[in-house]
Amino acid sequence: MKFIIRGGKRLAGTIEVNGAKNSVLKAMAASLLFSNPITIKNTPFIEDVLRMRELLEDLGAKVEEGDRMLVIDPTSVRDGKLNKEIAERLRASIVLAGPLLARNGWADFPYPGGCVIGKRPIDIFLSGWQAMGAKIMDGKDHFRVTAKKLRGADFAFRVVSVTGTETMMMTAALASGKTVLRNAAMEPEILSLADFLNDSGAKISGAGTPKIEIIGTGGRLLRAKRPFTVIPDRIEAGSFLILGAAIGKKIKVAGCEPEHMTAIITALREANVPLEIGKDFISVSKPRNLKAVNVQTREYPGFPTDLQAPFAVLMTQAEGESVIFETIWESRFGYAENLKRMGANIFLADQHRILIKGPHHLRGREIESPDLRAGLALIVAALLAKGESVISNIYQIDRGYEKIDERLRELSAEIQRIN
Ligand code: EPZ
Repeated sequence: MKFIIRGGKRLAGTIEVNGAKNSVLKAMAASLLFSNPITIKNTPFIEDVLRMRELLEDLGAKVEEGDRMLVIDPTSVRDGKLNKEIAERLRASIVLAGPLLARNGWADFPYPGGCVIGKRPIDIFLSGWQAMGAKIMDGKDHFRVTAKKLRGADFAFRVVSVTGTETMMMTAALASGKTVLRNAAMEPEILSLADFLNDSGAKISGAGTPKIEIIGTGGRLLRAKRPFTVIPDRIEAGSFLILGAAIGKKIKVAGCEPEHMTAIITALREANVPLEIGKDFISVSKPRNLKAVNVQTREYPGFPTDLQAPFAVLMTQAEGESVIFETIWESRFGYAENLKRMGANIFLADQHRILIKGPHHLRGREIESPDLRAGLALIVAALLAKGESVISNIYQIDRGYEKIDERLRELSAEIQRIN
């Protein structure tokens, strides 16, 4: 499937932000820690959620779907082996391994797939589980982790890892004794997950800070008392702000959490983008004098790596030079060639830095989406560009953004999906 986009038109209206992909996937994985069904509200029905559902069902869980809602019943899960084909399509499949290990005493999983944005090692996960007493068998194309008994550990992350932190937190929730996680990631999705687990009988303190302490239940499963509500997707919201800054007459990004978005708000303000910030919305429009600013991607609360591609698109329209410094992933500029073909002036300094000189008009082209965040960036570029663009490989975009074409049409964007 492809998107055909006719660009050059100013957009206006309200766009609602969906639940966060990187929150819902972890809550789905966490269902394996429970002795009863869990309900997840504000679910985005994106391709990655469907893949995660398939993985859970393949393990024996029962999953029902409602209006923006999922009910996952893990009670009949006995299997610990992840379906290879599905797991390889989704990096987040790795977050099932910790809860599986904690529930069953073993987990068998292939090397996880996902976006082509550089090396995606899992060494930290493996050493974390080993510190808790697990044994690792590294087969040719799969891993098997086993533990008769998981015991609490004092574990420091060599690099800050989001899924690593979530995985260790979930594994430790059912272990015996106390676990201390140091140099932990601080993303809001981690805090939200910890709150849910605590509400269900876990004992986790410090989530959202670099030091998390967990007193394990000693094997006892958690019991859900209330539904989990997925927090607004701060990356989706940030991408819509960038869209508004690039071509918005006035776009209201509704249902977001501005407190989770301080880095992108600061960057946009420094670029002269007018923003009106409410409790749960931000309105944005294109400034007359968009200014070039540099950004450096960092772990939360720094500038999110998942927003650097759309921000780079915006910077092609800014007066001056900007440097985008990607410090988390080593090949996340796959989209730059496409932007250059569309007329942008971008110099790839090295694997981690690009220099953009602006402003340059973009022209419609046939382009391919390299990964989901870059895919959305290319949509923004195509909406900015004069003429028609065709974006292929849009499964990548559907992985993280639900019905993005329909939602953008509400803002009067000319975007069609074709086979
Ligand atoms: C999460 O990936 C997100 N994915 C990513 O979003 C996001 O880009 C990333 O965090 C950083 O914010 C999910 O939450 C499903 P990391 P994750 O482990 O957890 C190195 C999107 O588009 N590392 O925090 O996989 C790694 O190479 C996706 O939604 C190790 O060295 O990222 C990287 O340099 C893309 N060994 C750094 O840590 C390990 O065992 C941070 O990665 C694990 C990671």
